[in-house]
Amino acid sequence: MFKVISKIEQAYDLNVVMYFENQIKICEHISDVNKKLIEKLIAKKEFTAKKGEVLKVEFLEGEYLISMLFLGMGKEEEFSDNVYREVIFENLSKEKGSVLISSENAKLSNYKILAEIVGNINYNFDDFKTKKENEVEKSIEVHLFFIEQIEDINESIILANSTDIARKLVDLPANIINPESLSKRSIELGKEYGFEVEVIDEKGAEELGMNLLLAVGRASITKSKLIIMRYMGNSSSEEIIGLVGKGLTYDTGGLCTKSPDSMFDMKTDMAGAASVIGAMCAISKNKLKKNVIAVIPACENAIDGNAYRPGDIIKSMNGKSVEIINTDAEGRLVLADAITYIVRNEKVTEIIDLATLTGAIMVALGTITTGVFSTCDERYSCLEKASSEHGEKVWRMPLFDEYEELLKSTVADVKHTGGRMGGSITAAKFLQGFTEGLPWIHMDIAGTSYDSGVKWNKKGATGVGVKSLYTYIKNR
Ligand code: BES
Ligand code: MN
Ligand code: ZN
Repeated sequence: MFKVISKIEQAYDLNVVMYFENQIKICEHISDVNKKLIEKLIAKKEFTAKKGEVLKVEFLEGEYLISMLFLGMGKEEEFSDNVYREVIFENLSKEKGSVLISSENAKLSNYKILAEIVGNINYNFDDFKTKKENEVEKSIEVHLFFIEQIEDINESIILANSTDIARKLVDLPANIINPESLSKRSIELGKEYGFEVEVIDEKGAEELGMNLLLAVGRASITKSKLIIMRYMGNSSSEEIIGLVGKGLTYDTGGLCTKSPDSMFDMKTDMAGAASVIGAMCAISKNKLKKNVIAVIPACENAIDGNAYRPGDIIKSMNGKSVEIINTDAEGRLVLADAITYIVRNEKVTEIIDLATLTGAIMVALGTITTGVFSTCDERYSCLEKASSEHGEKVWRMPLFDEYEELLKSTVADVKHTGGRMGGSITAAKFLQGFTEGLPWIHMDIAGTSYDSGVKWNKKGATGVGVKSLYTYIKNR
């Protein structure tokens, strides 16, 4: 789907040439008469290569009908990776077939970003559409013509594929993805990409004392699972990075049932799990010299006679008793037990969790920025850098002690919600209570994981976090 070439050996459906504003130079290989044609058209249409400006020119070169798309990237001094992402995504999304991309400017030949974008364009969630007879193949094959010798592009391609794996898991509906099938898929991916997978069932979880996880999943016909993925790429290091992904394969809200409108997208409540799985694929396929263990509490927040209730008091794996306030705040409960498990039983040295945790994070930051909470400045910076490398926006949220007051319970050690105000922060504070002082990053991806409206993302699942986690771990 995406390749870098240094010699042109075939004809293409479309030739895309990128320019900075007022830096247009027509390629040497074009015959004089066509060069003149292009020059005249550029003058007539007043094409100067402003950001997003396009000029399509078609002409005969010998036997061949050449279609060229001149693509404006705007002023060089205003250029950024995100401008590149935006313009490329916008324009390549409209194409199909084979596309040759070239530019005389190395800055505009960013193969890493092209691999990302082409991956996203070719990703389609159409598994359940019966193909119409005249429906044509929508994918594009993109070749980047680049004279410079480049590093291995495999890493970028694997990152794009791993992001697609996460997207697909999120887009698939809850009648396909449940704790059981998610476990099976993790096992398959572990075999294919080279990481070890262990699945703990309800009985095992009971023995471990994971009562919060069990309570949340209790009303569902498909039983809760704890999925553990291990990749130990550096035996001489003591460090083990622990990843935790919220794996609610559906969230009805439980007895505190959601309204139909807010329930509709709740198949996506396992996006944290999906991104963690995608990241594990990328980490093992690219053979990073790191030790990474990921845990997914997978369950469904359903409604039934045996559902857990507001007012219940439940003993967590950690030992703390938790007063249940609202059964729709289920994510933090399953994450709490998963965090205890990964700290105590897997002996990780730092924790990163990803979760579609709160509606409140969308009120605070909208859908283009992930809210990040961290107990470690250095690690937060490292994550911020990794995220921005991939065009994923993050913003740091506070963990001030005062917020913890809001979780005081009169009947148990802690209650699990702290009211409407600062809802994302009290959720994070609740989780922090289970991290046992380890360096910790919490990413609330409720807004950014689905239909984010980011200009270079398709509708549907975004796979947010896969690339950022990968790059964060690679750089640690
Ligand atoms: N899964 C939701 C959060 C969510 C909302 C994710 C919208 C994606 C889109 C979470 O389990 C939830 O329901 N949170 C509640 C917490 C509240 C009851 C304290 C919320 O945010 O309303
Ligand atoms: Mn919920
Ligand atoms: Zn949820």
